[in-house]
Amino acid sequence: HRSEQVKKAPLTELMARAMRFYREQLKISPKAVDYLRARGLTGEIAAKFGLGYAPDGWQGLQQVFPEYNDNALIECGLVISNDQGRRYDRFRDRVMFPILDQRGNVIGFGGRVIGEGEPKYLNSPETPLFEKGRELYGLPQARKAIQEEDTVLVVEGYMDVVGLAQHGVDNVVATLGTAATDANVQKLLKLASRVVFCFDRDSAGDRAAWRAMEVSLAHLADNKTVEILQMPGNQDPDEFIRTQGKEAFIHYTRNATRLSEFLVRELVKQNPLVTAENRAKLVHDAKPLLQKIAAPILRIQIVKEIATRAQVSQTEVEAQCELKPLTRN
Ligand code: GTP
Ligand code: MN
Ligand code: MN
Ligand code: MN
Ligand code: MN
Repeated sequence: HRSEQVKKAPLTELMARAMRFYREQLKISPKAVDYLRARGLTGEIAAKFGLGYAPDGWQGLQQVFPEYNDNALIECGLVISNDQGRRYDRFRDRVMFPILDQRGNVIGFGGRVIGEGEPKYLNSPETPLFEKGRELYGLPQARKAIQEEDTVLVVEGYMDVVGLAQHGVDNVVATLGTAATDANVQKLLKLASRVVFCFDRDSAGDRAAWRAMEVSLAHLADNKTVEILQMPGNQDPDEFIRTQGKEAFIHYTRNATRLSEFLVRELVKQNPLVTAENRAKLVHDAKPLLQKIAAPILRIQIVKEIATRAQVSQTEVEAQCELKPLTRN
């Protein structure tokens, strides 16, 4: 929308100025440079992702924004106003990860504390520019590799995207702290025929995997695949590739679990098939998931798998789950 773009343009300009400021601050902040270096990142990768540093101090941004009291700085989430109306920088003493939209405009930031501290990450709030559930971190940098490989890897964190890129795995994006949304999955399935979600193996990662499955079922077509990968041990993709290298990581991604297999495996885990009651409950629990599936042939395949395990006919599963006929896709 043209009129919306006109309204957003001044905010986009503020965000771009802030990014340039954080970039410059990084160059003169040995502590932040050392932190990134200790995490295995080169200057080249830091530049590719526009990484920066928000200095320690309450009004650091005043150096670049003489209009510090302008409400636009609050509107774009860079400045906060306290109860007494005093204004201060949202991001202080943090390594800054700019979040870009498809056109390369800065729409938000993630800021990581250097070393230990709470919160570990601080993100921009939702603003007119930044709708968290729609964005994928790292997309502009990853787009070409995603096209070339017809595969997109989806990780949990900023550092996973940047750390994998450091080792030459470039077809990677992250959802922004939230579980995958419908908008995320629709966008991902447009980008490539193979979408691989890589989750940390912790309870947050397990919940996110289940959620990614539910959302994917609703958007998957028969000519696309979604896969789910849980990282081994307690390593995330960034730690895995740093300790074991690119080849091992790529090899590991080939063991990702297809969505259909993940669904059946998780349901059987919850309902071990030793009793008639559990086999009945398996069909019962499958119902809401089967009802979500948009890909007609895939649905038939999964119904077959459920029917076999529940020891009932396919027709019985379809009837009990009240599956409506699907049109061709
Ligand atoms: P590193 O420790 O820097 O490697 O981060 P990580 O990405 O491995 O962190 P973790 O696996 O704990 O979290 C994954 C993602 O969730 C992060 O990249 C953030 O986007 C988000 N996240 C983690 N901690 C916080 C937090 O304290 N606050 C918010 N808002 N988001 C967080
Ligand atoms: Mn985690
Ligand atoms: Mn990590
Ligand atoms: Mn992690
Ligand atoms: Mn870590």
